[in-house]
Amino acid sequence: MSTQSNSAPTPALPWQPGTTPLMLAPMQGLTNHGLRGLFCDWVKPEVVFTEFIRVRPGSKRPLSEVDHDEASHRHSVIPLVVQLIGRDSEALVAAAVAAQAAGAEHLNINLGCPYGRMNLGSAGGALLKDPTGLAERLTGLRRVIRGSFSVKVRSGYDDPEQIFGLLPLFEACGVDYLVIHPRTVVQKYAGRADHRITARLVAATSLPVIANGDVTTTAEGLALLAESGAAGLMLGRGAIRDPLIFQRLRGLAPAEPDRAERAAEIRYYISELTERYRPIFRGEAQVLIKVKTVLAMLSLDPDFGRPVRKMLRCHALPSLLELLESLR
Ligand SMILES: Cc1cc2nc3c(=O)[nH]c(=O)nc-3n(C[C@H](O)[C@H](O)[C@H](O)COP(=O)(O)O)c2cc1C
Repeated sequence: MSTQSNSAPTPALPWQPGTTPLMLAPMQGLTNHGLRGLFCDWVKPEVVFTEFIRVRPGSKRPLSEVDHDEASHRHSVIPLVVQLIGRDSEALVAAAVAAQAAGAEHLNINLGCPYGRMNLGSAGGALLKDPTGLAERLTGLRRVIRGSFSVKVRSGYDDPEQIFGLLPLFEACGVDYLVIHPRTVVQKYAGRADHRITARLVAATSLPVIANGDVTTTAEGLALLAESGAAGLMLGRGAIRDPLIFQRLRGLAPAEPDRAERAAEIRYYISELTERYRPIFRGEAQVLIKVKTVLAMLSLDPDFGRPVRKMLRCHALPSLLELLESLR
């Protein structure tokens, strides 16, 4: 697959026109700037996203110091999309303005997170319950966002067909592209992402549609692109488990690695990540926790699940790294 093009970039989109971007999904607790930096240097997604940035009304500052830092940590070449999650229109606009002041060029709003009521004040996917309010929020954001503005959306709140009713709203509000994770909000992560909806969505809009959900192998990714006609792919859990999937999809790494290649990948991945985490998460205990968050995603690996689970039981970083080095 070609991801290179000589045509001039369209300022509105974070990828080159005529190319098929492979994006690293936003993932709370995982896609901090340390992990993003490693992915950008190593496997080069065309676009990366921040974890969601919580936007609450009445906060002293529109963005916390940590969020400001995340929004400003861009790779020298690979575009960063800053994702906001929130409900309050004014606070969202203030956060978008602050993120741009911190250097953000591309913004996205989370319309998918299914855990709204518990800790996000009915934001994320819950916003799909009120399309009129959603239109007001998107219009307000579009007014202040200078670069690309995208939505990351489920297929509906509880109706997988809802997305087709929302399309005219997204188009009228000046959204530049959609990322679709075709499960409903109430479905959370149950069942499979229904990419027949992705294909129908591609056919129903002239906006670029990025397909997201359940891509864990090269074959699945290539089939999804071919069958849906999506403008690109966004990879979440599959990329955290196998960063080289970006290169596999491009034909630049084996589509199905053998055991030795996979062992080498995991050794490099976790040791490099540990080094990048040391200056970010101060103290060995913090680094250990953050490295384990990534490792936990590999705990059911068909070949290395057992040693990974052993690493997850380590109480100190040196013993975890010793086990890592013995991975063959
Ligand atoms: C641990 C975890 C954290 C996530 N955090 C976010 C987030 O911050 N923002 C967001 O839009 N989606 C978030 N998601 C959803 C993913 O971006 C993605 O849409 C979902 O996992 C489906 O894609 P996948 O099957 O490739 O993982 C998260 C998912 C997981 C598993």
